[in-house]
Amino acid sequence: MPEQRKKLLEVKHLKQYFGSGKDMVKAVDDITFDIYEGETFGLVGESGSGKTTTGRSVIHLYEPTDGQIIFDGKDVSKLKTKEDKLKFCRDMQMIFQDPYASLNPRMTVEDIIAEGLDIHGLASSKEDRRQKVEDLLETVGLNRDHASRYPHEFSGGQRQRIGIARALAVEPRFIIADEPISALDVSIQAQVVNLLKELQEEKGLTYLFIAHDLSMVKYISDRIGVMHFGRLLEVGPADDVYTKPLHDYTASLISAVPVPDPEFERNRKQIIYDASVEKDVEGKPAKLREITPGHFVRCREDEVEMYQKRAAEYEK
Ligand SMILES: Nc1ncnc2c1ncn2[C@@H]1O[C@H](COP(=O)(O)OP(=O)(O)OP(=O)(O)O)[C@@H](O)[C@H]1O
Ligand SMILES: [Mg+2]
Repeated sequence: MPEQRKKLLEVKHLKQYFGSGKDMVKAVDDITFDIYEGETFGLVGESGSGKTTTGRSVIHLYEPTDGQIIFDGKDVSKLKTKEDKLKFCRDMQMIFQDPYASLNPRMTVEDIIAEGLDIHGLASSKEDRRQKVEDLLETVGLNRDHASRYPHEFSGGQRQRIGIARALAVEPRFIIADEPISALDVSIQAQVVNLLKELQEEKGLTYLFIAHDLSMVKYISDRIGVMHFGRLLEVGPADDVYTKPLHDYTASLISAVPVPDPEFERNRKQIIYDASVEKDVEGKPAKLREITPGHFVRCREDEVEMYQKRAAEYEK
């Protein structure tokens, strides 16, 4: 069970605010979750809910407004030595949504993929560098002779494979994939997801997988967190969250997943979630509370019983 596994990432009461005064945006507003070594944690939510900000905070592109990011037992804001900082840069890598914008058009594929090798001094010679790049190309399903080409010579799916090879080059332990397939044709989305899954098994990688589409996240994730207005509303095993959602907002996301059946579509009643119910009642703070083992919902103490009943309904 994941609970016995090692926690590779711990996000504790993370707040990430931008701006100040009345222009302040609370992009992430007190979220807490863990990711276990070797698992995929899927983060879903509508546009603007704070998913990318969470990813960027985790990889320490921002200094948290409040709270902590603990990676492999160390607070990433408190890494002191150059050695520790470099190790963190190597251990954690990111794959981006837009494979067109994220690859420098003036660099060859070899130079793009080898950037990390150069930074961390992982290639012993020019030949070794080339060899490593070609091996990486093969690992992600591209040809070895693609190394001397430029990004514009590749399709979206191939570019995303180059992005994955670049991330893999430094042998990371943790990869943040921020909507890695949403810019790709539907026909090749599954190929890229399957590649990520295979690589995970082969290399024991841990993923934070960010997406809008709950059905895809369910397919790749072990556990899912549902974000809304900078908060986590529900966290649990992927199957539980998808088939037995506890929070109304999660249910509304699931009911928004298009189903390729016109009859079903016509008869389906889409659940609209009313965000106003979320406001804290004075003196009764809402926070993630465990309703069934490993399945948490953001609620007040006095709502727990209602959610327990809801969970029990699913078992009937
Ligand atoms: N650097 C920034 N400065 C100011 N506001 C920001 C910044 N980055 C994000 N925001 C704001 O924070 C909120 C969350 O944005 P974020 O990009 O994290 O959402 P998201 O869930 O990734 O959305 P999407 O699904 O569209 O990618 C938004 O209101 C956004 O405008
Ligand atoms: Mg985003």
